[in-house]
Formats: sequence, C-alpha cells, structure tokens
Amino acid sequence: IGLTLFDPGYINTAPVKSSISYIDGDKGILRYRGYPIEELAEKSTFLETAYLLLYGNLPSAAQLANWEDAVMRHSAVPEGVFASIDALPHDAHPMGILVGSICALSAFHPDANPAIQGQDLYKSRAVRDKQIVRVLGKVPAMAAAAYHRATGRRVSPPVTELTYAENFLYMLDAMGDRSYRPHPRLARALDIMFILHAEHEMNCSTAAVRHLSSSGVDVYTALAGATGALYGPLHGGANEAVLKMLSEIGSVDNIPDFVDGVKNRKRKLSGFGHRVYKNYDPRAKIIKKLADEVFSIVGRDPLVEVAVALEKHALSDDYFVKRKLYPNVDFYSGLIYRAMGFPTEFFPVLFAIPRMAGYLSHWKESLDDPDTKIIRPQQVYTGEWLRSYAPASNRP
Ligand code: CMC
Repeated sequence: IGLTLFDPGYINTAPVKSSISYIDGDKGILRYRGYPIEELAEKSTFLETAYLLLYGNLPSAAQLANWEDAVMRHSAVPEGVFASIDALPHDAHPMGILVGSICALSAFHPDANPAIQGQDLYKSRAVRDKQIVRVLGKVPAMAAAAYHRATGRRVSPPVTELTYAENFLYMLDAMGDRSYRPHPRLARALDIMFILHAEHEMNCSTAAVRHLSSSGVDVYTALAGATGALYGPLHGGANEAVLKMLSEIGSVDNIPDFVDGVKNRKRKLSGFGHRVYKNYDPRAKIIKKLADEVFSIVGRDPLVEVAVALEKHALSDDYFVKRKLYPNVDFYSGLIYRAMGFPTEFFPVLFAIPRMAGYLSHWKESLDDPDTKIIRPQQVYTGEWLRSYAPASNRP
C-alpha cells in the first residue's frame, strides 16, 4: 500500500485522469473538452453540449438530430416511479424526491444492473448508450413530478419536438394543454443555465459518481448517490441557501451587520468561495449577465440590489480579499430561477438535471479507463490500540 498521506477533503489528491473538463482556478477559466464555457453558453444548446461532454466532440448535424431524437424518445417514466413519488409527503423536499426516483430507476432497469447481468455488462457500447439516453430523457420528467408533488398536479406528457429546456418547462406548466409553449427567451435562458451546470470536473458529487461506480454498482444507484451529495448546502444546495440568505438580509442596510457575522464565523456567505476558483467563477459572470436578460422579460427582483451590494461589499473587504473568495455559480443563479417563478427549494433540482451529463461522462470515462480501481482511501487511525473485553457487570 505504501505511504499514507493525510489529506482531508482530498485537496491534494487526484484519484483519476480525465479529459472531460479543464479548470484554471487562478485565471477563472473553464473549458469543456477544450471549448471555453463562454463560447458554448453563447452558441451551443444543452443537448449538443451534453453530446460533446459524453462523446468528446461536437456532433455532426445528422448525429445531433439522432441524439436529440434518442434523448427525447426516452423521456417516458415508468408509472411505478410516479407512484413512488405520489406515496411521498406532499411537502417533501424535491431533491429528496429526485434522489429517490433516480434510485427507483435501478429497480425498473435490471437489464442495466451488473450485479444481475454480470460485470461485463457495460463493455457493450450499446448498453451504455442506452442508459445515457434513458437518464437524460427521464430525469427532467421526474424533476417535473417532484415539482408537482407539492401542487398535486400531474406532469404533462413530453412534447418530443421541443428543445430540452422547452420540453422541461412544458412538462411543468402545460397542465394538459398540448398547444402550450413556454416563452422562447426564458427557455433559452434556462438552456444556457443547463449548459453552465452540465459539468465541473472532480466536484463533490461527480467524485461520488466515480466513487460509487468504482464498486461496479449500476449507474442509477451511482447517480442517485451523487445527486444526494449535490443536495448539500456547500455544493448544489448553495443556490437555495443563497436565496434564503438574501431574503434574511432583506435590505442593503443590513449588509454590514450580516458580513460582520460571517467574519465572526457565525455562518458562511452562501454562493461565495470555491475549492478551485481563486478568482471570479466564469459561470457566475455569464449568469450575472443572463439575469439582466431574464429580468427584462419578467421584471427586476428587489433582492438583486441586495445581492449586488453584498458582492461589492465582500469584494472590497479584507477578509474575503485575503482568502480569495469570489461569487461562485450559485450566487446569482437563484435570482434567475426565482424570477422565472421556481420555488426556492426547487433550485438544487435545476442544478441536478443538467449535471447528469457530467456524471454520465465521468461514469463512461471510468468504464474505459484501464487504471480504474475500486476507490478505497486509507485512514489515519487515532483510536485505542488494544483492549481486553470485560463483561458489563465488571465495568465501572
Ligand atoms: N464565507 C465565509 N468564509 C469562507 C467562505 C464563505 N462562503 N468560503 C470559505 N471561507 C473561508 C473559510 O472559513 C476559510 O477561512 P480560514 O482559513 O480563516 O479558516 C477559508 O475561507 C478557506 O475556506 P475552506 O473552507 O478551507 O475552503 P474549501 O475549499 O474547503 O471550501 C467551499 C469550498 C465552496 C465549500 C466554501 O467556500 C463554502 O462553504 N462556500 C459557501 C457554500 C457555497 O457557496 N458552495 C457552492 C460552491 S460552487 C458550486 C458547487 O460546487 O456546487
């Protein structure tokens, strides 16, 4: 086993090699397969970007058409998954519902389970590709069902000729009216948000996909575990935490006191700081601009003033400057989601939907990598050395 290094949070440990995305945290650079995130956000669509992440290159026009068709054709969710959602409390957190429904897919697809079919199952490209389109197709529909657990309504069946984001908004809002179409600019804004959230190398939840699938477990169970990791407020749950924080601050006048509390370590500033970015998160820059586009359609959210003033205050404060703490992807995203009418607790779900593309890309890459091993870190043992058992009657 060799030398064991104590590395909490794996700050200095790279357990995998990957060619999917690249981050330069000092310069604030993010690229998917070599393409700058800014260019993809401006010119690509979520499904095209998902193809790029998964298969390494942008698709030809024919490949793209086939791919979009395959994903949209796999958007039907087994009735039993909807029934399992119906059995949950109406006020259950939608992320909990989503985690459970992704895991339930494992039970509905035993054909994709190496524990049942044997560990050679995923050697077949066709079998892998089938799980990829299933996940990308079904997750938005299950997310829409998680949303409607609280409203008591049914998800509208998908309209496969719409774009990925349009169809998602349709499933949420159509209420059975097949002629309903979401606002095209809002749907495009959501599609851009999906591109920005699709992948981010070895973050906590993607590392969880690698970790879980290294045991040979089926892809649905691995994705459910990863989505659970994403739910945490230090990770994908930060967008929800930011909105709660901005609402709690309430007005620009309360910012200095709130920031003093952060500096006194009463709490963290949600949506600030990053393990890798020691500069402005490039996704946050794009989201800040996109917010203006969304506000021009639906009206300006009064909490924007609080967010902008809070950012300005933090960026000129020594505490944040010294520690290189900048706004991250979650700082402004919640304001867009709120302006679009999503409830706060739904925000992490909007992060989870596109991140499936990144998770699946890492899952696929790990299956092809001859260096893949079961992930099993060491520990530094700090307990008792050796003791002798005494019966309860003889213990002090
Ligand atoms: N507010 C106040 N202080 C902070 C913050 C913050 N948001 N983030 C880091 N710090 C301080 C931290 O207390 C520490 O100070 P000191 O050295 O004096 O003890 C220093 O900065 C270094 O922080 P760290 O906790 O060692 O950094 P990390 O790399 O372990 O954590 C992080 C990264 C993202 C978990 C953290 O910055 C954080 O908790 N941010 C708030 C939650 C958040 O916005 N998460 C979303 C991350 S981006 C999208 C995603 O991954 O989902």
